[in-house]
Amino acid sequence: MLSWMDSLKGRSLMRLKSLTDAEMLDLVDLAAQLKARRRAGTRGDLLRRRNIALIFEKSSTRTRNSSIIAARDEGGGAEYLTRPDIHFGKKESVKDTARVLGRIYDGILFRGFSQQTCEELARWSGVPVWNGLTDDYHPTQILADLLTVKETFGSLDDCTVAYVGDGRNNVANSLMMGCAKAGMRYVCCAPRELRPDEAVLAEAEEVARRNGVDIRVSEDPHAGVKGANVIYTDVWVSMGEESKTAERVKMLRPYQINMDLMRATGNIGGKLMFLHCLPAFHDFNTEVTKDTGALEVTDEVFESEYSKVFDESENRMHTIKALFVSALADRSQI
Ligand code: CP
Ligand code: NVA
Repeated sequence: MLSWMDSLKGRSLMRLKSLTDAEMLDLVDLAAQLKARRRAGTRGDLLRRRNIALIFEKSSTRTRNSSIIAARDEGGGAEYLTRPDIHFGKKESVKDTARVLGRIYDGILFRGFSQQTCEELARWSGVPVWNGLTDDYHPTQILADLLTVKETFGSLDDCTVAYVGDGRNNVANSLMMGCAKAGMRYVCCAPRELRPDEAVLAEAEEVARRNGVDIRVSEDPHAGVKGANVIYTDVWVSMGEESKTAERVKMLRPYQINMDLMRATGNIGGKLMFLHCLPAFHDFNTEVTKDTGALEVTDEVFESEYSKVFDESENRMHTIKALFVSALADRSQI
């Protein structure tokens, strides 16, 4: 019989909903353990002779590099494959590509548009498939976020997370479920047009109820963040939605994270942090913001003592490693 620790062996991760609460929290703890191991200078061989295909339809800095280094740190390999590199979805169906790559690789991490493509890869490849972001969900991001909160506050207990901005994007959807599973209160501050999808909200509410916490949705960011310990935002326009830029910027201006909003938590000087999955538009230093300046977060907050965004981005690597190890390695060797 498998011990609870081995319950993730051979498993895919499409979305957080498919993990038990204990499995999700176990992945966070495993990542902390692997992080400590790396900090102590150990580069082990937990993933020796394991090869992972990285199929990416969208750009990435963190997810791509985290996956490559996570595999390499533990003696494995990862191959970065973009749509123009392979026949994926053009000359060869997703189903056939899945069956081919599943014969060659031990696992596949997919970043792309459709959640259905990710699920089809999992269905046909015969190896674990991990969702490295789709239009609907970004589960691996939330594992890193939970690790960051746990490291910073010492535990996930008695914590309110306020997500402010596009409340129905991939990160917001996964964060809402992650908080519900971890027993953290969640408030989504978003305009009516960008409220969480009702079905996604209902699923998370059911989990939150079971864990004795609430989920709230507020159109008023200043009222919504009152009492929050984590202020979280993401870009206002996700990859693939670029045509909506002007309308989103107009709609979400009042939802910018600035020091005023941080103060509205009532927790300045206390239990408070700022998180962002990154990349973030916080200054004039990108092609997008060279004329507009900060969008979803001001430089003042981004660079403040409350901001844990670079711990968070480092934690992408440790949590993705935990996912690979939990599915492909013998954990008794750690
Ligand atoms: N947060 C995140 O997924 O970053 P990348 O797009 O750089 O992978
Ligand atoms: N919501 C963002 C997340 C990027 C990591 C996007 O999909 O572009």
